[in-house]
Amino acid sequence: MNQQQLKELLAQMSLEEKIGQLVQLPAYFQNGGTITGPAGDLGLTQEDLSLAGSYLSVIGAEKTRTLQEEYTAAHPHHIPLIFMDDIINGYRTVFPVPLAQGCTFNPDLVQQGASVAAKEAAASGVHVTFSPMADLVRDARWGRVMESTGEDAYLNGLMAAAMVRGYQGDLKEKGTIAGCLKHFAGYGAPEGGRDYANVELSLRTLKEDYLPAYKAAIDAGVAMVMTSFNTLDRVPSTANKWLMRDILRDEMGFDGALISDWGAVGELVPHGVAQDFAQAAQLAIEAGVDMDMVSPSYAKHLKTLVEEGKVDEKLIDESCMRMLELKNKLGLFENPFRDAAKEDEDALLLCEEHRKAAQDCAEKSFVLLKNEENMLPLRSGQEKVAFIGPFVNNKFLCGSWAIFSDDQDTVALKDALEKQESDSCISFAAGSRVMDGDGVVQGFQKQIPEETLDEEFALSQAIEMARGADKVVLALGEHREFSGEASSRGSLTLPRCQQRLLDEVAKVNQNITVVLFCGRPMDLRDVHNKAKAILVAWFPGTEGGPALARTLYGHCAPQGKLSMAFPFSVSQLPLHYNQLSTGRPFHGDYKAARFGSKYQDMPRFPLYPFGFGLSYTTFSCSPVTLDKAVLTKDSSIKARVSVKNTGNAEGTETVQLYIRDMVGSVARPVRELKGFRQVTLQPGEEKEVCFEITEDMLRFWDIHMNYVSEPGEFQLFIGTDSTTENKASFTLEA
Ligand code: NOJ
Repeated sequence: MNQQQLKELLAQMSLEEKIGQLVQLPAYFQNGGTITGPAGDLGLTQEDLSLAGSYLSVIGAEKTRTLQEEYTAAHPHHIPLIFMDDIINGYRTVFPVPLAQGCTFNPDLVQQGASVAAKEAAASGVHVTFSPMADLVRDARWGRVMESTGEDAYLNGLMAAAMVRGYQGDLKEKGTIAGCLKHFAGYGAPEGGRDYANVELSLRTLKEDYLPAYKAAIDAGVAMVMTSFNTLDRVPSTANKWLMRDILRDEMGFDGALISDWGAVGELVPHGVAQDFAQAAQLAIEAGVDMDMVSPSYAKHLKTLVEEGKVDEKLIDESCMRMLELKNKLGLFENPFRDAAKEDEDALLLCEEHRKAAQDCAEKSFVLLKNEENMLPLRSGQEKVAFIGPFVNNKFLCGSWAIFSDDQDTVALKDALEKQESDSCISFAAGSRVMDGDGVVQGFQKQIPEETLDEEFALSQAIEMARGADKVVLALGEHREFSGEASSRGSLTLPRCQQRLLDEVAKVNQNITVVLFCGRPMDLRDVHNKAKAILVAWFPGTEGGPALARTLYGHCAPQGKLSMAFPFSVSQLPLHYNQLSTGRPFHGDYKAARFGSKYQDMPRFPLYPFGFGLSYTTFSCSPVTLDKAVLTKDSSIKARVSVKNTGNAEGTETVQLYIRDMVGSVARPVRELKGFRQVTLQPGEEKEVCFEITEDMLRFWDIHMNYVSEPGEFQLFIGTDSTTENKASFTLEA
């Protein structure tokens, strides 16, 4: 349809029909499907139901085709439904969780993952995914750090844009779906790391640190945006006219459809900014929220609000037009079934090529935090290795958002090792449950098979196995329902039962490698003291087992870099490497800086910083050279280092560029990531890495809230993590 035809269609629609286009119903209205929020009776009539323009969490080629057929036939103007779902890190073939994908520092790989997810989901009738989540995260207590690509705005922007390209392509091709950027805005900074809690951000911090990643996704052409649950400056986003109209649309240039988060329009009532659902509907539509996800507010109240003259029908038309435009962009008017096809589902879901892509991404997302005495890689056939822990024979490796995957499709570490290694050198034991207590996560009621094991027997068996082995690999971590939505944690340590396993094993065998399964940075102090090697596997997805088996035995080398620091302790949070310069900086010397910004009883800095990650080889980085020392607005500086593989194995290093503005009209971060390059080097091989520095990389929101650069001195750091002191200085000329 062209724009004129859409306008004509809109003109023919009744008010009820137009409001229907603004309503999204959850799967339970279609008898089943996954429920991703508080479920309940929305009090809708048969007419409300029959006009609702979108369904959430309904999947499957056959199911969506049938629903679409029945719905369009019955709809007064035969306007098709739009199916939206949470395809976060894969559909049936599951990739590592987004935080792990951030650690790849490889946007192309992330784009490929999103494109695999799109192909599979499209074949199952999905039209829109609620991804990417571009929320900046600085507090590992928040369960949803798992769904973010980390603590850096620049990295998050690259990753969010890559996901948008991967999902959407040009939206016309087969195997594409629309992306929905979320959660606008600032959802990643809840007080105390508690999900859904209030967010306090200064306008400058919001604009400088939190908005850029959303902006990158918008510039990449993301089709939809979702509002966040939180308040910002005490106004819930879903009712925040300034945020949605002035910032999102006018300043950031977003012209697609805006959807509320699940129930968020209705939640304006408990937020205490609306007295009832009618007022909530009015606030949200005035703020520019086009679609109401799973609340009765729009369906039940917009019509009366228009009839009473409280809401201008123009607002309904505006929002309805955006929903029609989205359906049109997806080609639904011409082909309401789009790519939904049983044959394609059979051919594509979990196909070899997709599994390979997931495995590749997993391998590149693992982060090696420590590797003393060359604990890793393990030597195939040459040493007896005991694989112990509740994650050894565990198929729950996809993270809590892989809601459409089947755990049975996941390859456990044990299965992969049995296939890869000879039986005589490897042995397996659980040794512990995943969780303390009864093994049931509050509110989820998901029990995992290992949780039924006899604890004492399992532990003693594991200790005996550890005693007789040359090396022990302990597969430990947090339950998958401990990260993700509504899964904040107050402590970041291992559960007591796993800690006990670690303690007891360490008494009989010190050659310990810990492989950590988690959806967030954890407190690894004790693990760090007891293990000689630590490999962070995150929740690695469907092919997590094979990816780990290959990595542990050196068929590939770890190359991930932390996209979010591992704190020394939970009490350091929130934590981020690009903190502002303080008047009393602390560089680590307690005597010299008695009055520095620090703690008396624990380190000031994280245990493992942003950008950190080892490989099976070592790298050196030469001092930085600049081709000139003065930058002007229309010239650039080339900053170079030479990176050398100084070890004995092939490896990939991520060389990172950070810049510090020495004096600004407002306090500036101690450094900010401005670029990175990946180089793969053979032993002894050396390559030059060059970064081009331009004036636009130095801009920020100045004292007058203008986005500008300020002349003066800058420091530039190039190295292999965010703590590098390999630096040079240059000046930006006025
Ligand atoms: C609530 C979550 O905040 C959001 O990320 C998700 O997309 C929706 N529920 C739909 O499931």
